[in-house]
Amino acid sequence: MNHFEARAGELHCEETPLRRIAEQVGTPVYVYSTATFSRHYQVFRDAFRPRVVEVAFAVKANSNLSVLATLARLGAGADTVSEGEVRRALAAGVPAGKVVFSGAGKTREELQFALGVGVGQINIESEPELDLLIEVARASGRAAPAMAIRVNPDVGAGGHAKISTGKAENKFGVSLGEAERLYAKAHESGAVRPVALACHVGSQITDLDPLEAAYRTLKGLAQRLRDRGVAVQKLDLGGGLGVTYFNQPEPPPPAALAEMVNRVFDGFEAELTFEPGRVIAANAGVLVSRVIYVHQRPEGRRFLVLDAAMNDLLRPAMYDAYHDIRPVALAAEGAPLEPYDVVGPICETSDTFTRDRMLPPLKAGDLVAFMSAGAYGAVMSSEYNTRPLVPEVLVNGPEFAVVRPRPTYDEMLAREPLAPWL
Ligand code: LLP
Repeated sequence: MNHFEARAGELHCEETPLRRIAEQVGTPVYVYSTATFSRHYQVFRDAFRPRVVEVAFAVKANSNLSVLATLARLGAGADTVSEGEVRRALAAGVPAGKVVFSGAGKTREELQFALGVGVGQINIESEPELDLLIEVARASGRAAPAMAIRVNPDVGAGGHAKISTGKAENKFGVSLGEAERLYAKAHESGAVRPVALACHVGSQITDLDPLEAAYRTLKGLAQRLRDRGVAVQKLDLGGGLGVTYFNQPEPPPPAALAEMVNRVFDGFEAELTFEPGRVIAANAGVLVSRVIYVHQRPEGRRFLVLDAAMNDLLRPAMYDAYHDIRPVALAAEGAPLEPYDVVGPICETSDTFTRDRMLPPLKAGDLVAFMSAGAYGAVMSSEYNTRPLVPEVLVNGPEFAVVRPRPTYDEMLAREPLAPWL
């Protein structure tokens, strides 16, 4: 469920017409719904009841400070993958103890920073990283930081090869055998405190079987360590649950995930953490764009040229992702659908959102909304072609706020001092 619906013939976000936002802020613009973010977070968390689980929102999916603050106020933690994301989570009010710091290439400086602010859990992905953390922890003179070993369970999952992370050939995590050895090594070092085993096998997962396989693998490993007298307090089960992008297999809802999790871990004592990103954020945001031209070739193809481009929403170019496209002003009942190639103004063929999409008649000046764009949308945007970074708006019922303004051209140019010899 989300809060983007048609009222009085036009698409709204909660009680706010998207047209009003487009008029006041300009296009392209991302629009997020507070109510949807809140609801998705609560539905996910409550699905596991009576089990209490930690929900660390994957900041990479949507790192806007106001979005993070919305979730932080509801008690969410944060799954982060860079010092920048840790800083965002803290700035948004996530307590340091609820921050998980993951990522395959954390630098010495980042580990020092994480220890300094006291993040709740550092997920270690390789032996050299573990060695570095032990070294940094010893030098810091602080209490041993809590950490996890990220296991690569050799399970393939996810909606696209580019977002599958759990196979042995992927760079993420260590093999099962290594995980057991490294966990024990961390334990024996005395400098760090291993508390958890972690896994994350992929994203946009629409089938629970690979997740279940990965969770069972993690549970078996935890049991083996416990049998050796090594404590494993928590399991961090990652994110990955898919969402409906309109034309795909219906993904299992959080309740189905929870049912599986409660079955797998029935009678197994462990605190559970999840790192959902997409399932919380995707359907909480849309990208609103204006039609610049309808370019009808006499030879056949009809191009809908928008003011949004691949630099604003990269997913179609990068993963052939499908986003539903809806006119903001509803078409008249029975209006004929026509095929459009929906494209942006960037000088690349990959700046094509979709081909032969059946849409009601559209003309220059009309507004359209790319649905399900709240996750991996604005966070992956860039200024390619010197297009100003796309702004973000957060709606709360009848009110809205610009939570990342569009930079002016002067601001963009001022960031680049000319080399002194020029
Ligand atoms: N935890 C870890 C360690 C991750 O690497 C990720 C996502 C998540 C949690 C959150 O996964 P989610 O619940 O959102 O599936 N840019 C791609 C998705 C990349 C996902 C990367 N890792 C896309 O637009 O589809």
